[in-house]
Amino acid sequence: MAPRSTEPPHGAHTPLVDRFGRVHTDLRVSLTDRCNLRCTYCMPAEGLNWLPKAEVLGDDEVVRLVRIAVRRLGIRSLRLTGGEPLLRRGLPGLIARLTELGPEISLTTNGIGLARTAHDLKAAGLHRVNVSLDTLRPERYAAITRRDRIADVLAGLAAARAAGLAPVKVNAVPVRGVNDDEILDLVEFAAEHGYRMRFIESMPLDAQGAWDRSKMITADELLEILAQRWELHPVGRHGNAPAEEWRIAGTDTVVGVIASVTRPFCGGCDRVRLTADGQLRNCLFATEESDLRELLRGGADDARIEAAWRNTIARKGPGHDINSADFVQPDRPMSAIGG
Ligand code: 5AD
Ligand code: SF4
Repeated sequence: MAPRSTEPPHGAHTPLVDRFGRVHTDLRVSLTDRCNLRCTYCMPAEGLNWLPKAEVLGDDEVVRLVRIAVRRLGIRSLRLTGGEPLLRRGLPGLIARLTELGPEISLTTNGIGLARTAHDLKAAGLHRVNVSLDTLRPERYAAITRRDRIADVLAGLAAARAAGLAPVKVNAVPVRGVNDDEILDLVEFAAEHGYRMRFIESMPLDAQGAWDRSKMITADELLEILAQRWELHPVGRHGNAPAEEWRIAGTDTVVGVIASVTRPFCGGCDRVRLTADGQLRNCLFATEESDLRELLRGGADDARIEAAWRNTIARKGPGHDINSADFVQPDRPMSAIGG
């Protein structure tokens, strides 16, 4: 058992603030780097060299770090990611333990396995899910993800809605010549089923380093496509949320766009990320990490871990430079960072 120092009284934490005054209240925890899909824009067909199990944080370790984040650092929302987080054994049990710590918990998943688990996840305290779905066409889904699993995803979405994991958000990465002809169909599909559609600009975070800016559908292009069919009204942004949202006139359908590349939202960033192997990252695009697993396993007390965490945030830069010639893609691909 690691030594425990006394916790500050509830609500008495000092905010997790960086040099630019950004207060960090959102923690994304990757629970595994593995995935049961092989999305072409994410990883090669053969998969990646998965982390050895011994290097992945166990449930007790995750719970301890989240407790420090919530009680000492003021983290209020938690997003569980992967790889594919539903591949983590005993996920409902872990969520139940995290729920006791008080943050709002959401999950980003490819939706496979959700049909089976949505009810238990909700019962454990999960609030919401984001499900990735780039196309509605089975053959195209199989081509993009290299797995013929669209039926599982559709069943997973329906199960999430039935379980009350609301709002159920659907994430798509539109890519020119791949699925850009389905943008309107995806919006209609989501509206019909009561899901909320969001489009994410493709980012240079693939394991193969094959990102091609010219294939990215930009937010401007996307809005033009939507405007061909509908009149759109901007919806005020929610706090620091990266999604810009538009409502389709005369309906309650809302479409979100996450324009990480063409309209970076780094200035309002309130996020910090923990990888499945216990490395703390102050940015999706960070090129350095801080090894919390070593501290945890070396017997550090909570105060020591808190200090390391604050130090990582103190070193956070102003933002990514995807748009500069000097941009360096991080060593870890998205699947090993957590989206
Ligand atoms: N750029 C943008 N989004 C990506 N995703 C995975 N790789 C990329 C990328 N390179 C998306 C997935 C999922 C979420 C976790 O991030 O489609 O919706
Ligand atoms: Fe898996 Fe997500 Fe990568 Fe697709 S994008 S292979 S679902 S981790």
